[in-house]
Amino acid sequence: MKPTLICSSASALSLITMLLSGGAFAAEEAEQGQNVGGGEMGIDAVVFEGQPITSDQVMSDSHRSYSRGMICAECHHVSFDLVTTSTKQFTKNFPQLSNDEIWEKIEAFLPGRERFALTTSYQGIPTASTVDMVLDKAQKVFFVVAEKGTEKLLHIQQNPNVSAVRFKGWTVADGGKKEWRSTQIKATAEIIKNDDPRFDEFLTTYNLVRMGLKRAHLRFDLIRVKPTEIYYFDTTLGGDKLSVYQRWQRD
Ligand code: HEC
Repeated sequence: MKPTLICSSASALSLITMLLSGGAFAAEEAEQGQNVGGGEMGIDAVVFEGQPITSDQVMSDSHRSYSRGMICAECHHVSFDLVTTSTKQFTKNFPQLSNDEIWEKIEAFLPGRERFALTTSYQGIPTASTVDMVLDKAQKVFFVVAEKGTEKLLHIQQNPNVSAVRFKGWTVADGGKKEWRSTQIKATAEIIKNDDPRFDEFLTTYNLVRMGLKRAHLRFDLIRVKPTEIYYFDTTLGGDKLSVYQRWQRD
């Protein structure tokens, strides 16, 4: 019994010492913040611990300032849910452009035939594939050609909900300027087969293939992708004190 007592009082003592020094350290940290180092942009992040928040909470105008590139979760425990995600935290907390201004930026980012990763899903299992998408600026829809019978076409037949992303910017391998841009699209997709009167019209209008119509009829189906929501991400917007994520929605 006795040795156990000695042992436990010794460990209690060391626990108290630990708590005390830990407490002193924590108090100092609370005053000066804890520098957790630089990120991709090389700017140091200094953490000041805030209270737990939910992901739909918005900072007051008097919220302390913090260095560029930090996110709420570095200082707050944030309870996220699928409605209010980390991206929405940006769009709620930092200034948004108007829907039309965001659209202008999306158009500028997607001037021609642009390569995207398109994700379709069937029975809850997603598949991403690369496609070229051409934007119709007036209708705000994209056109894609797909070889008949590909997985994405079969998926879309069962489930028209798709998501697509195009991204550009700095990578470790390629270097360049440390800025990033992307468009992340949520959309519904419609398959247009070669017996649809719109097939030839769209193929010619958008110059979708580099072969004659006859051969195109044998090979392809068209997909018309109609976005309901697009997140436009652009790190240069942060310099203008805008949210780096801008959310466009179809009216
Ligand atoms: C550098 C650390 C840090 C970051 C990053 C940070 N906060 Fe805070 N926040 C704090 C601290 C610390 C407090 C408590 C008040 C104080 O000591 O300034 C606080 C307070 C708050 C409050 C209550 C008071 C107020 O000013 O509104 C809200 C809400 C809040 N934060 C939301 C956010 C959100 C949302 C984000 C991200 C967009 C964010 N915070 C990013 C440290 C941070």
